[in-house]
Amino acid sequence: MTAVPHRPGEGDERGWDPADDGSYDATARVVDPVGDEGERQVEAALRPKRLEEFPGQPRVRDQLALVLEAARRRGTPPDHVLLSGPPGLGKTTLAMIVAAELQQPIRVTSGPAIQHAGDLASILSSLAEGEVLFLDEIHRMSRSAEEMLYLAMEDFRVDVIVGKGPGATAIPLELPPFTVVGATTRAGLLPAPLRDRFGFTGHLDFYATDDLVTILHRSARLLGVEAAADGIREIALRSRGTPRIANRLLRRVRDWAQVHGDGRVDLVAARTALALFDVDDRGLDRLDRAVLEALCRRFAGGPVGLSTLAVAVGEETDTVETVAEPFLVREGLIVRTPRGRAATAAAFEHLRLVPPAGVAGQPVLPLDDAGDAGRFRG
Ligand SMILES: Nc1ncnc2c1ncn2[C@@H]1O[C@H](COP(=O)(O)OP(=O)(O)OP(=O)(O)O)[C@@H](O)[C@H]1O
Ligand SMILES: [Mg+2]
Repeated sequence: MTAVPHRPGEGDERGWDPADDGSYDATARVVDPVGDEGERQVEAALRPKRLEEFPGQPRVRDQLALVLEAARRRGTPPDHVLLSGPPGLGKTTLAMIVAAELQQPIRVTSGPAIQHAGDLASILSSLAEGEVLFLDEIHRMSRSAEEMLYLAMEDFRVDVIVGKGPGATAIPLELPPFTVVGATTRAGLLPAPLRDRFGFTGHLDFYATDDLVTILHRSARLLGVEAAADGIREIALRSRGTPRIANRLLRRVRDWAQVHGDGRVDLVAARTALALFDVDDRGLDRLDRAVLEALCRRFAGGPVGLSTLAVAVGEETDTVETVAEPFLVREGLIVRTPRGRAATAAAFEHLRLVPPAGVAGQPVLPLDDAGDAGRFRG
């Protein structure tokens, strides 16, 4: 099999089921990664192409710049790169940028597309020297493919099995040096031997408002939308620190401005349109609020196990864990405790509820790696 062209957000890779008619309509979400073809094209058009035009993530950007520049001076492919972090923060964008900076072609495939080691073997054996292999959702690759990948990443070699049964032989095949760029929303799920094969790991974090403002001004320019600074700032403040959401909200506000206003994205347009699309003044969308409401109202603030919470909001555990939770934790609205997730006093305040006594006093575990959240799953 060959590597497939990348289509961000395609399929049900995170357990989304757009046809699900349960209590919660995932397709209506503003952060819904399942976009239509048009949305995908817009997303692609808005991706920065080079590192110097990539706003935000200063640490990862500087580290990556160094790794790439050093490789360029040595004239060898750089170490393998792993990018982790919540959806929509720029992992795919950075993978494309790595290839562009190296002036190398990029081959794109994803974990779920590699079900057999043979699938990976055929991709690996067709790579040219220096080429970049982008493995999206790398934590969802099959075990046998994973093992083949370690060997290929370390020794630039694959063992091709010829024949079947007792007569089968492994023929080693030398590969030219290449660079793997892996992306994952769940770094904690990668087996240690695979994680160790990456010479550089960049963890993407939510963006600062000023960086989102920069991104939005750029997007407005590319989309030919006239935008006022106050409108852009309002959208940035409500984008959950996520460029994909910022770009999507910008398009919805533009729609509102074209239909009800003078076409200009300003403060009034932003506030009215975002209220219409169920994005509150803190940027929480319907899933975020459903999680908070369940935690505060049904479970009296918790702590409650993640899977119980997911059932309560009618979502996949994985969706609650990778999409809603990291932002709610970052905002200080929920905490992860040894016994499950718990709401903070700020969560009750946000929902205009009175917290029960003792809510603020939960023992808190640090959230140093969002991808590791499964460890505390209750
Ligand atoms: N730093 C940035 N500057 C400008 N736009 C950005 C930036 N990061 C991401 N974007 C935009 O956000 C959108 C989503 O980015 P991207 O597809 O790279 O996210 P991702 O981390 O790969 O998400 P997923 O985990 O869902 O695959 C793209 O349209 C891209 O243009
Ligand atoms: Mg991606």
